[in-house]
Amino acid sequence: MRIVVGLFAALVMNTAFAAPTAKTTDTAKMNKFINNLMSKMTLEEKAGQLTQYSADMSKTGNTVRENYREDIIAGRVGSLLNAFTPKFTRELQQVAVEKTRLKIPLLFGYDVIHGHRTIFPIPLGEAASWDMKRIEDAAAVAAKEASADGIHWTFAPMVDISRDPRWGRIMEGAGEDVWLGSKIAAARVRGFQGDKPGATDRVLACVKHFAVYGAPVAGRDYNPVDMSDRELWESYLPVYKAAIDAGAATAMTSFNDINGVPATANDWLLNDVLRKQWKFKGFVVTDYTAIYELIPHGVAKDLKDAALQSFRAGSEMDMMSGAYPKYLPQLVKEGKISKAQLDTSVRRVLEAKYKLGLFDDPYRFSDEKRAEKAMLTPENRAVARDVARRSLVLLKNDNGALPLKREGTIAVIGPMADNQRDLIGAWSAAGSAMDEWKKAITVIDGLKQVGGSKVKVLHAKGSEFFYDEAMLKVQNEHGANLTKDKRSREEMINEAVRTAKKADVVVMAIGESHGLSGEAASRTSIRVPEPQQELLKAVRATGKPVITLIFSGRPLALEAEAAQSDAMLAVWFPGTESGNAIADVLFGDHSPSGKLPVTFPRNEGQIPIYYSHKNTGRPYDGKDKYRSQYLDVANTPLYAFGHGLSYGKFDYSDLKLSSAKIKPTQKLKVSVTITNNGEHDGEETAQLYVRDMVASVTRPVKQLRGFQKVFLKKGESKQVTFEVALEDLKFYDKNMKWVAEPGDFKVFVGTSSDNVKEAGFTLL
Ligand code: BGC
Repeated sequence: MRIVVGLFAALVMNTAFAAPTAKTTDTAKMNKFINNLMSKMTLEEKAGQLTQYSADMSKTGNTVRENYREDIIAGRVGSLLNAFTPKFTRELQQVAVEKTRLKIPLLFGYDVIHGHRTIFPIPLGEAASWDMKRIEDAAAVAAKEASADGIHWTFAPMVDISRDPRWGRIMEGAGEDVWLGSKIAAARVRGFQGDKPGATDRVLACVKHFAVYGAPVAGRDYNPVDMSDRELWESYLPVYKAAIDAGAATAMTSFNDINGVPATANDWLLNDVLRKQWKFKGFVVTDYTAIYELIPHGVAKDLKDAALQSFRAGSEMDMMSGAYPKYLPQLVKEGKISKAQLDTSVRRVLEAKYKLGLFDDPYRFSDEKRAEKAMLTPENRAVARDVARRSLVLLKNDNGALPLKREGTIAVIGPMADNQRDLIGAWSAAGSAMDEWKKAITVIDGLKQVGGSKVKVLHAKGSEFFYDEAMLKVQNEHGANLTKDKRSREEMINEAVRTAKKADVVVMAIGESHGLSGEAASRTSIRVPEPQQELLKAVRATGKPVITLIFSGRPLALEAEAAQSDAMLAVWFPGTESGNAIADVLFGDHSPSGKLPVTFPRNEGQIPIYYSHKNTGRPYDGKDKYRSQYLDVANTPLYAFGHGLSYGKFDYSDLKLSSAKIKPTQKLKVSVTITNNGEHDGEETAQLYVRDMVASVTRPVKQLRGFQKVFLKKGESKQVTFEVALEDLKFYDKNMKWVAEPGDFKVFVGTSSDNVKEAGFTLL
């Protein structure tokens, strides 16, 4: 039967008699090589290829195995994480290819999340640029540096959608929106991998964390995810698929359970969705010790049981649990796992190594000469500076407080003013492991360099990030090394006030330290830590104009800070070029162009708050009591998704539709005129949203379906045209079918999700 089906398929595809293309001969060559190699492998060696340990140059969890070198020699390791530099990777690779029986090279993986040595803005910041070209460039630079440092494979992009700013890892994704997130996921995959695996200046990508790690109950890291099918399929899963469709070579399981089944042992998720429905061809690695964690999750009785469940479900490489090398051979011998399934997974890992060219030259990526010239080059730093300035979001700017003049005295106050380590944020890879943060440009240095000789910069720290002993202890355990100033809080504030009084304008550099976001860094209060709020109040009382820079890895509740600032910018953690990028924006060399990829709430009680919410049967109307509303705070966020001001002032007019009715085969053209009525040139990101007015299931009040960047000189007008296709109107109907239902729709175009022009049309 198999032969018949195979022959039939060959005839239908008409490839049986066609001349072999370069691609088919390449594949045939690869298959032959791998078949031959696999025919020599023992069960233990096969399990070894599915095993990954840490070499401990950086740590992201507890180390379960120190003597991994002996394991390499025994053929029990296929991959290492946290090993880099050409020298170290060469040394380890040498062990694999000289001391093991079959000489299979190791695969080196590492968390290159937002830059390798040149650090870019945290991913949430990069997402705020809404600039796919620049996001791709950033990943390409990261790949260039990482690959020159011996790394083959990055554990990125992290694409988890999150609507919960309590969750510390919201910093690592692209925000709350599945449509924007999908575009960004694809751009990052392209940047890391290039067109084809094997180029020595690229790395393999790994889409993570599969799946829905960004929606833990109560925003607490590692907590369960409990979600309806509709929400899963519509708002969370498509972003992983976008990365896979863009060619991501690997995928990583998530720590959480989904409706009761941990992702790492989730047969439906890995086998049905990822493999069968999405046709994923690469291999799946677990998250760190995730196989072992099935025991505390309470679904496996011991490590052997955990290995069995994970492998059966489709988790192929064991990161750090040591379960596969120990139990897979035995499970195959006992007939609990088929040899064929084991072979399929081993083949996928060997294919990745083959495509990287490691069987031809295992040291291709470990070239010291190349590494010497590749890191932190002026070119890489220039890209980082441009991405960083595009990531800054101008939240408010009263009475043209910004841009600053290039003369007079500026007081820079706050714990981020003269700080380097925190600028690069969490998940900063070699940026922290190799102390590259010491090359980061501080806010003070940036203002001095970009401001020029007529600008005098004064400085006062004013406050520590926080004084809470318990928090300091935890943060220092995470390597933050927060030292306390010898002066009292009062003395520091007094000094800040004296400094502010001597200046024409104050730049406050406040917010979170980098360790307040990232893994295992959830917060119930999403505020600027209290001592800095007090500092801001004291400085504000001097009556000097205040420009506030908010550093954070998440949306913060900023009502108080907004009230005490003339202008305020969300700057995230902008990376190596922080100070320069911030100064470029403050002095107006770059008009701010970032837009929020995630909603900023007024307070924690509003969480989760996101723009694409449902209308309810009792939407807020401002009059009636029995409406969906809070008694003590408005329903609106402080800053909506898509918000971000410019030094230009963009007015939208003349919204036009190509037709009031469209057939399913037609595309609707939506055009609008944007005029820059401000005093400065600037770039606008015009956004298009749709709403299905009547459907078989309730629909969000708005869904992003397009955006365009337009540069407008002062006084200039341009017409921008979007297209809305049938696909943009589809959703999961009552029967979970992906359809567009005929009827009335609204389309909105504007500068943010809460500031739009609207028109209606009908889908026939
Ligand atoms: C994180 C992953 C990361 C892995 C390896 C885990 O703790 O959840 O995102 O890739 O460690 O460092």
